Amino acid sequence: MSPKTFYITTPIYYPSGSLHIGHTYTTVAADTITRFKKLKGYDAYLLTGTDEHGQKIEKAAAEAGMTPQAYVDDIVTGIKTLWDTMNINYDQFIRTTDPEHEKTIQRIFKKLHDQGDIYKSNYEGWYCTPCESFWTEGQIVDGNCPDCGRPVEKASEEAYFFKMSKYADRLLKHIEDHPEFIQPESRKNEMINNFIRPGLQDLCVSRTSFTWGVPVDFDPGHVVYVWIDALPNYISALGYLNDKPDLMDRYWPADVHLVGKDIIRFHTIYWPIILMALELPLPKKVYGHGWILLKGGKMSKSVGNVVDPVVLVNKYGVDALRYHVLREMNYGSDGVYNEDLLVSHINSDLANDLGNLLSRTLAMTVKYFDGVIPKDRETGEFDEDIIALAEKTSGIVSDYMDKLDFSRALEEIWKLISRSNKYIDETQPWVLGKDPSKKSRLAQVMYILTESLRIVTVLISSAMPETSKKIAEQLKCSVDYLTWDSIQAFGGYPEGIKVERGEALFPRIEIEKKEMKTETKKEVEVKEKHEVLPEGLITIDDFAKVELRVAEVVACEVHPDADRLLVLQLMVGQEKRQVVSGIAKYYKPEELVGKTVILVANLKPVNLRGLESNGMILAATKGKKLSLVTVDGIASGGKVS
Ligand code: MSP
Repeated sequence: MSPKTFYITTPIYYPSGSLHIGHTYTTVAADTITRFKKLKGYDAYLLTGTDEHGQKIEKAAAEAGMTPQAYVDDIVTGIKTLWDTMNINYDQFIRTTDPEHEKTIQRIFKKLHDQGDIYKSNYEGWYCTPCESFWTEGQIVDGNCPDCGRPVEKASEEAYFFKMSKYADRLLKHIEDHPEFIQPESRKNEMINNFIRPGLQDLCVSRTSFTWGVPVDFDPGHVVYVWIDALPNYISALGYLNDKPDLMDRYWPADVHLVGKDIIRFHTIYWPIILMALELPLPKKVYGHGWILLKGGKMSKSVGNVVDPVVLVNKYGVDALRYHVLREMNYGSDGVYNEDLLVSHINSDLANDLGNLLSRTLAMTVKYFDGVIPKDRETGEFDEDIIALAEKTSGIVSDYMDKLDFSRALEEIWKLISRSNKYIDETQPWVLGKDPSKKSRLAQVMYILTESLRIVTVLISSAMPETSKKIAEQLKCSVDYLTWDSIQAFGGYPEGIKVERGEALFPRIEIEKKEMKTETKKEVEVKEKHEVLPEGLITIDDFAKVELRVAEVVACEVHPDADRLLVLQLMVGQEKRQVVSGIAKYYKPEELVGKTVILVANLKPVNLRGLESNGMILAATKGKKLSLVTVDGIASGGKVS
């Protein structure tokens, strides 16, 4: 029987400069689940690549005095090197400038045109060049792009359009009949209520004002525009309507398109509609993950706050960074990048918990048994508990992995690591070692620890392949003992093996204040403990921790699943924020649009009835009255102090 297949894709990235830790998250996550599926015996296939056309690239290349092709070639080389550095084991890297991809796009465009789904008209609207987005009058905010806040230009030109609305009912039915299609669930309601139900606009699919794109072969002057060039990469890579090896039967429909929350709409509305028009099955799941945020905002080059993964890998190692981003990103919601947190993950989870477990276990095996655990072993107190945990961990981890909940999957593995460390404290092998009559009990303790480490080695292998390899080398475990099947029952660590101590897995990072930009969480806690303040008082430093910003309400609606909550869309300078607030009793949504309110901007985001709330707005209350705190004459983005 041929193995089950698993086809997963990352978005194809814009080659508009170097990628940052946010992009790295998507690709590390996709690589982790692909490795995991391969471990479980699947025929898994990971596609990543680059989205290389468009006016922005054309302009950037001209400014650099290069042809667009030479310009993107350079950047794509850098992106491939980054994925090598991050240990991404992709099966194919697709570029939208590949001749085979271009062939697919031209043929799709012609087919859709011939069958009447694409028609020619005139486009009039507002255009944001940096975002490559058209906006309608109602969407722009004070003459600026609602996404990046920069000025938009009036644009009018001949263009082809795709009749999206024709497929809206079928799409809605598909989404309703397939609850797993859009994940996490909360994103589904957003798509239905904010985009599909209000009515789908026809999509502009060609341009004539620039040339860096796939030419529309039957209408010279037009190039295919953005999404209809980008989205079909997922099938052109599999040889759809081109001369690449035909992998469509094997891998299509995709099991998961892993995408960031900003492009879920394109993947759950435009893409299924394109596929319906092509009479192809729809992907099984579109999973929209949150963003990695930096000080309350999204990382972006225009804001100048990007974090370069290569610098971090050089400083801390690739697996530390992989662990940090996977651990920090909770299921579907946003995560925070912060160097202190990364260092604290390294010192506590990696060096202290995992590194110490390995070095203590190996050191004692070498000390008491010259590296080979004897066969004569005696069971005792505490064994049953740790064995039961070790046996069930792989199943729990697998369930979380299937849900793409990497943070929880790692948390479960770390429970076994912590349990093992606790087992050392409980059994006290150093005491057993002093008593020759306890030799067989000591042998059992060392076996249980070594076997737990073997299970951990297999379980972490998809998230942290290098570390897993290093541990296996020290345990002297060959590949036969590192399979998924081999960890389904406790006791697979082979007999008679001589372990060998190696270098520490994760040397502790010494935190030198002058090197670190900010204090670590622990240091702050320690400092706070020592400072004794009269009850109810805070210091000016405490107050300064709260970042208050002026924000403008640009849209507002009642929460789809909770009548007492309002969902507010805010602009804080150029940054977009969504805040969910329990003020529906006091305000109608339309009363709030246009108000300038005060936002607590550095609150940890929370999920309120399925929608993310990223901050809190201030209100004054007395008795049954509530009034939002508003300001006059200060533009959004302003600080409140
Ligand atoms: N080219 C389009 C995708 C086309 S897919 C058919 C694109 N490219 S992108 O380079 O701008 O973004 C690629 C992915 O990176 C998106 O999924 C986006 O959400 C993700 N991220 C960009 N910044 C991010 C963070 N700060 N955090 C997490 N992911 C982020 O969109």
